[in-house]
Formats: sequence, structure tokens, C-alpha cells
Amino acid sequence: MRTPKKKLYIRTYGCQMNVADSEQLALVLDSDYELTDRPEEADLYLINTCAIRRKSVEKVLSLLGRLKALKRRRPEMLLGVGGCVAQQEGQQLLRQAPHLDLVFGTHGIYRLPDLLAKQRQTGRRLVDTAFAAEMPYLCGPRPAGAVQKLVTIMQGCDNYCTYCVVPYVRGPERSRPAADIIAEVAAFVSQGGQEVTLLGQNVNSYGRGLPEAVSFPELLRRLAAFGGLARLRFTTSHPRDLSEDLMNCFAELPPLCEHIHLPVQAGSDGVLARMRRGYTQKDYLTKVERLRQVCPDIAISTDLIVGFPGESEADFQETLTLMRAAAFDSAFYFKYSPRPQTEAATYAEQVPEAVKTERLARLKEVQEQLSLASNQRLVGGVREVLVEGFSKQHNGQLTGRLRSNHVVNFDGPAELIGRLVQVHVTTAHRHSLGALLCGGQFGDQFLAASRQDHRRIPC
Ligand code: SAH
Ligand code: SF4
Ligand code: F3S
Repeated sequence: MRTPKKKLYIRTYGCQMNVADSEQLALVLDSDYELTDRPEEADLYLINTCAIRRKSVEKVLSLLGRLKALKRRRPEMLLGVGGCVAQQEGQQLLRQAPHLDLVFGTHGIYRLPDLLAKQRQTGRRLVDTAFAAEMPYLCGPRPAGAVQKLVTIMQGCDNYCTYCVVPYVRGPERSRPAADIIAEVAAFVSQGGQEVTLLGQNVNSYGRGLPEAVSFPELLRRLAAFGGLARLRFTTSHPRDLSEDLMNCFAELPPLCEHIHLPVQAGSDGVLARMRRGYTQKDYLTKVERLRQVCPDIAISTDLIVGFPGESEADFQETLTLMRAAAFDSAFYFKYSPRPQTEAATYAEQVPEAVKTERLARLKEVQEQLSLASNQRLVGGVREVLVEGFSKQHNGQLTGRLRSNHVVNFDGPAELIGRLVQVHVTTAHRHSLGALLCGGQFGDQFLAASRQDHRRIPC
């Protein structure tokens, strides 16, 4: 008789890349462990961490503190910290948390079975934060019911924006061979997958250093050619490297969704230069204009940082000006947080916390107006939704995303989860849309038509 698998619980913080890494962790450990969503029954409890801002690190330390009680109750449970904080802190984490058994860095995922074996043999607390020249990548079967998939196409980053810790914790940029990515997507589509999101810190530089020279637009063309892939997305695209070729893909490739995440960070040319972003406000807005010419329905989202060292009130006003000019459909916004090893952390003129707080509130106000306006523009239209599940906030309604990434909630039966349906958008809120399912058998009569013209069809 086979011995039953042990239980693995993974708590994931940070970006989609970390979510994809946690899936890799589960696959790497699959022969001995099965996933559980109940931390109290875990034999192995892993925390996959994010170091992007101080707050992200504090969240991990606070969870570690809370886990002392669980470890006391279940001393046989192994507790491990992986990901970006583990990469940054290494040995230091073992000192800070005496109940922690393992620390493994961003490249340590695939060596984790060896680390666990060594831990079992020696009983010692261990750290593995070495960078690897090659990283294998595992492709598992499609989890039951999953119609969306994150596909990592590259690791690391070579950009060294002066505020950012990612190049230090993720290592140098490396692309996965196109053939591997294509095989992974093909398998997913053949098993009924609908939506693929390609992940990299700067997808525009995909392909650099690969034996077979494949540019990112070329990779998109190859993937879009699969029959059956309904939606293709990618993140993140660096504004400096956004090429005409890539912009044209939005007009040419039917599965490529009409949404781009294009983090601008700031509006002032002086601040952008000190961030080492490699573009000016004008360069950025020219690309936004061009994107909207090529694909009039495109939704543009962004990331913004307030209170970068030396940011004056006039600089901040430039950010607000740029936001209005770009008319962002949505945005993530953050207070600048000095990170270890980064250049900007050493800059003079750090902005006081109170000023950052006040600027963030003003920026939020502007973005909420822009997001509401973006949502209002969709009211009255008919759109395709990929139904993701039940909404927690909208009591029992179904929730999903439009191709433009707008969130939409509507009444409908559970059988629709995982399917593409058509809805009539009826109401706009700041962070979501309300809608009615189009008539007929779950709006399916519109589905065939929408496959031919996926942008807009009459209700
Ligand atoms: N690779 C992506 C961004 C990854 S980090 C890109 O180049 O756009 C996600 C976001 O976190 C960044 O876009 C930035 O807005 C924010 N961020 C990064 N470092 C930060 C810091 N030190 N303080 C505050 N926000 C930060
Ligand atoms: Fe960080 Fe810049 Fe690399 Fe993005 S491009 S991960 S912001 S260094
Ligand atoms: Fe955070 Fe690491 Fe992603 S620092 S944002 S989890 S690359």
C-alpha cells in the first residue's frame, strides 16, 4: 500500500510571479505532499514572500510571529520561508524567528526536495539562497475547473530602477525557450483552458540571450495562432521598451485582450530620470496615444509611486497631470519605501511620511474619478465576461472580468463559472461594473458571434 501523502500549506504574498512560483513549489513537492487549505493540519507550512516595500516584509514577520503558537502545538510541522524576503534576509531570518526550520531563496524552489531531505537527515535549520544558472520549469496537469493560467516566460530583471529591489532578489533576466512556453500553453488549451497570462518583469525584452531569437511580439503571434485560446494577456510591459511591433499586436491578434498594464511610476521628468526609467512624460503619453489609435477599446492600467526622494509639490502635480492626460482605467499606487541595496534609499531629501500620506490620498481621489469614468463609458454596452466565481463583496453574485480587465458582477447560476458569457453592462461603480446576463441559454447565443467579433456585439 502506498504511504499517504503529507500535507502542504502555502501562503503566498506579492505579485503574480510569486503566485506562479507557489504553483511550481506544489509541483516540485508533489510526490510527497498534497496541498491543503487548512494550515492547522499542515506537515509543511511554506510562506512565499514579497520584499517590494517595507510593509510587505512586515506582513511576513507578523505572520511568522503568529505562527509561534501553531509550531508550539505541532512541533513536528516544518516551517519554511521562501521567495523575495528569504532571498534578501537569508540567515538573518533564522536568527529573527527561532521556530523557523528552512529559508530558501527565489532560485531555491527546485532544490527544495534536497533541502527537506537534508533537514530530515540532520535535524538542522537550513538556508539556501544561492542563485542558479539554469532553472527548470515544471508543467503540471490542469487543476480541475481551472480555465485561467499564469505562465512565467522569464525570470529576473536587469533594469535596476533606482527604487526597486527586484533585480537583487530575483537575479539577472533570463527567458524561457519559446518552444517550452508554446508546449505548456498548447497542453492547457487542449485540456479546456481559456485564458493565459504571460509573466515577466519586463516582457518587452523577452528572448534576449536565447539560442533561438524570438521577440515578444513573435511569441504572442505564435500563441495567438492556437485555435481555442480565447484570451491572451501579459504583464509587465516597460514603457521604455514598448515597441510599435508590440502595439500592433493589439490590433492584429484576436485572442490578445484589449488591456495593457504599463507602469509609469511618476509624471515629472526629473523624478523619472532619478528613478532611471528611461522615458519622459511626453514619451509615455505619445505611446498611450499610439496604443489608443491602434486599439481604440484598449484599457490602460498603471503603477504609481508618491514621495520618491526629492519629489517636490510641483513634481507631484506632474504625476496628477499625466494621470488625467493618460486617463488611466485603473491604477495601483504606493508610498515610496526605501529598500535595502537600492540606490534611491541612499538619496538625500527623503520625503516625510506625512507628505507621502497626503499625496497618496490626493492621487487616490484623482484615480477614483478616472476609474469611475472608465467604468461609466461601458454602461449600456454588451461585453464578454470570463466568469471567475462568486463575488465576496456582492452577496452571492457571479464575478468575472471583461477582456479590458474591468471587474463585473451579475446574477447567474454556478454552472457559468469558468465559462465565457455575454452581459449587458447596467451600472458603474468605482471598482466594478454591475450587469445583466444576456438572454437565452446563459447568453450562449451570443458566444458564437462574439468569437468572430470579440469586441462588441448587439444584445
Ligand atoms: N516589473 C514591474 C514592476 C514590479 S514591482 C515594472 O517594471 O513595472 C510592482 C510595483 O511596485 C512597481 O511598478 C512600483 O510601482 C512598485 N514599487 C517597486 N519598488 C517600490 C518601492 N521601493 N516603493 C514603493 N513602491 C515600489
Ligand atoms: Fe523593478 Fe524596474 Fe525591474 Fe520593474 S523594471 S522589476 S520596477 S527594476
Ligand atoms: Fe514582490 Fe518579489 Fe514580486 S519583491 S513584487 S514578490 S518579484
